[in-house]
Amino acid sequence: MLVVNDDKMKNKTMKEGSVKKMISKKSDRIQGAYHDSKDIYDTVLTRGNIFSRAYMSFFWSDTDDNEVAERVLSYIPDDFDGTLLDVPVGTAVFTEEKWKKMSSAKITCIDYSEDMLDKARQRLGRSDHITLMQGDVSALPLSDKSCDIVVSMNGFHAFPDKNKAFRETHRVLKKGGMFIACFYIKGESARTDWLVHRILSKKGWFTPPFPTREQLLKILYRLYADVEYHMDGSIVYFKCVK
Ligand SMILES: C[S@@+](CC[C@H](N)C(=O)[O-])C[C@H]1O[C@@H](n2cnc3c(N)ncnc32)[C@H](O)[C@@H]1O
Repeated sequence: MLVVNDDKMKNKTMKEGSVKKMISKKSDRIQGAYHDSKDIYDTVLTRGNIFSRAYMSFFWSDTDDNEVAERVLSYIPDDFDGTLLDVPVGTAVFTEEKWKKMSSAKITCIDYSEDMLDKARQRLGRSDHITLMQGDVSALPLSDKSCDIVVSMNGFHAFPDKNKAFRETHRVLKKGGMFIACFYIKGESARTDWLVHRILSKKGWFTPPFPTREQLLKILYRLYADVEYHMDGSIVYFKCVK
């Protein structure tokens, strides 16, 4: 009996070990991808030149990330004075202005990539109400129920372990706290799905598997109340309450 349990334990540990290895390999690839793109990231995402505008128009049904970000951030009042987690902060290209304005709030910004964080530090590093740190959404360095708001912009399509990311963002939220996010979901546009599958995932900017709209809603309705979601092309943005 003991031997069987031992074998089971060994098997379980080996399985967990190989899953961990796989995820850490993925994480290295993600770090590499964001290292290589750190200097063009802002231009591409904000439609900063003609190429990025053509790219967004052709592959992303003309979704404008600036507009999506604006709508996501409009869920948060400027005079909010609670605790807010932004994961992943990236370069803070969309959040700089808003986070700086919210000087009564206590804001923690986390990203896995030191390269992206460096850019965010240049933007937000001098604000006393903002803390920036390197970290993994799968193991957030925050206590249970410590945040009033968790914001995750364009993160879930990059996160290697989405179940853990959903679990961790939920864990750190207080009861009654708000989870706000936007990211790519599968199954809305064949052209976008092709790009994500063939190029973005291979390069490490995106990491499968990606939920469909139905799969995402199932997760959200299980964990949260008052789910309000919208689609813009293949990008979903939503707010919900724990
Ligand atoms: C597409 S960017 C989004 C950044 C920013 N929120 C924005 O909207 O511009 C995705 C970010 O996710 C970060 N990331 C990927 N895996 C992560 C993880 N496990 N934990 C924390 N951040 C992660 C990457 O380093 C990258 O900065």
